[in-house]
Amino acid sequence: MSAAPVVELLRRAERQEPRRPSYEASLLFEHAAMAIGHVRDRQLQRCNRRLETLFGYGPGELNQRNLQMLYPSYSDYVACGRSSGRQLERQGSCRIERLMRRRDGSLFWCQLSGQAVDVSRPSAGSVWTIEDISARKQAENALREAQAQLEQQLAEIRRRHQEDLARASRLNSMSEMAGALAHELAQPLAATLNYLHGCQLRLKQGDCTSEQLDGVISRAIQHTETAGSIVRQVHGFVRRHVPETTATDLHALIGDMLGLLDHQRRKLGVRLELLLAPAPPTVMVDALEIRQVLLNLIRNAYEAMATSPAEQRLLRIESRPLAGGRVEVTISDRGPGISPEACSQIFDAYFTTKQDGLGLGLAVCRSIIESHGGSLRVASNPEGGACFRFDLNTVMNP
Ligand SMILES: Nc1ncnc2c1ncn2[C@@H]1O[C@H](COP(=O)(O)OP(=O)(O)OP(=O)(O)O)[C@@H](O)[C@H]1O
Ligand SMILES: [Mg+2]
Repeated sequence: MSAAPVVELLRRAERQEPRRPSYEASLLFEHAAMAIGHVRDRQLQRCNRRLETLFGYGPGELNQRNLQMLYPSYSDYVACGRSSGRQLERQGSCRIERLMRRRDGSLFWCQLSGQAVDVSRPSAGSVWTIEDISARKQAENALREAQAQLEQQLAEIRRRHQEDLARASRLNSMSEMAGALAHELAQPLAATLNYLHGCQLRLKQGDCTSEQLDGVISRAIQHTETAGSIVRQVHGFVRRHVPETTATDLHALIGDMLGLLDHQRRKLGVRLELLLAPAPPTVMVDALEIRQVLLNLIRNAYEAMATSPAEQRLLRIESRPLAGGRVEVTISDRGPGISPEACSQIFDAYFTTKQDGLGLGLAVCRSIIESHGGSLRVASNPEGGACFRFDLNTVMNP
């Protein structure tokens, strides 16, 4: 309900007899279901019983009282007076939602609708209707909280889904690489065994110096460490992963993944060209996630070149600093490249052209890079083949 009918009656009454409101106006005023008050110079001239009960006052207790007592604080009273005064001057009416104060000090949400009695004569004051909108505000707040909770839950579900996809992709990569990894492990273990047998023999024959033995043992240790590092990498890829961001040498991650996939590279006879920035970039990343990106991009490149003529098989990895403290990594191959039709789908989850592929690799790579604030893009290699590019923030030296 607006204050307009009351104002109209007030005006009419004033025309007939400027000092006293008409009988109809008084009736409407007193018996309206809505709280109504006539305000002049920020003082309640008159208000109806509904307004008094709304604020917890007895009959007549609010008449001729300053409005300040209905506001939670003095600053609220001033701010509300300023904004409603401006609106009444400009458009003759105003509507405000505000917290107001009852006699017992409790606060409640009100909608205040004001109407100037006579815009050309501010001294005539304004008529206000006041509605308790606490229930609506409570419902709005509850809805907002429920929405926020729902969004939080959805974000958590999305995050877990991404984590599950990433883990499924890592497990699949490891299972596909199991044969190659077993082969990769067999070499250092066999070498270690040979060195130890050699030591044992020499000890039995008693024909060696401790320096000679030390050299042989050192080489056995080196090979055991190589085997250990392969086992650690594989373990890192298959265990459940709790994301953790640390300052990491990006080139070291590239080296790790090239090492892990070296068997595949040698088997396919792929040559390697590394064009790395002279200063190794330090990036703030989850190292396992970036390893996963590199592993998939390098494996994809090797697999794409499996059908290329042997002399063409070349993998180029480039890193270069970008403006704004970022670094860009480009992985280019000389495989068949990606057709324009496939280009729009390769980042979709489950898109694959491989018999044993899950089609998760690139979808996971893109979400990992984006969660690190970068982007992963594909382009054609001008020398033939495909070229994948991503960028990351570096830790700039202060
Ligand atoms: N370097 C590349 N050259 C040509 N095609 C590529 C290259 N990289 C990816 N693709 C195409 O994009 C598809 C999707 O790659 P993605 O890495 O997402 O999945 P996948 O390698 O098939 O399976 P996986 O889940 O094991 O990684 C590949 O099946 C392949 O058709
Ligand atoms: Mg892949």
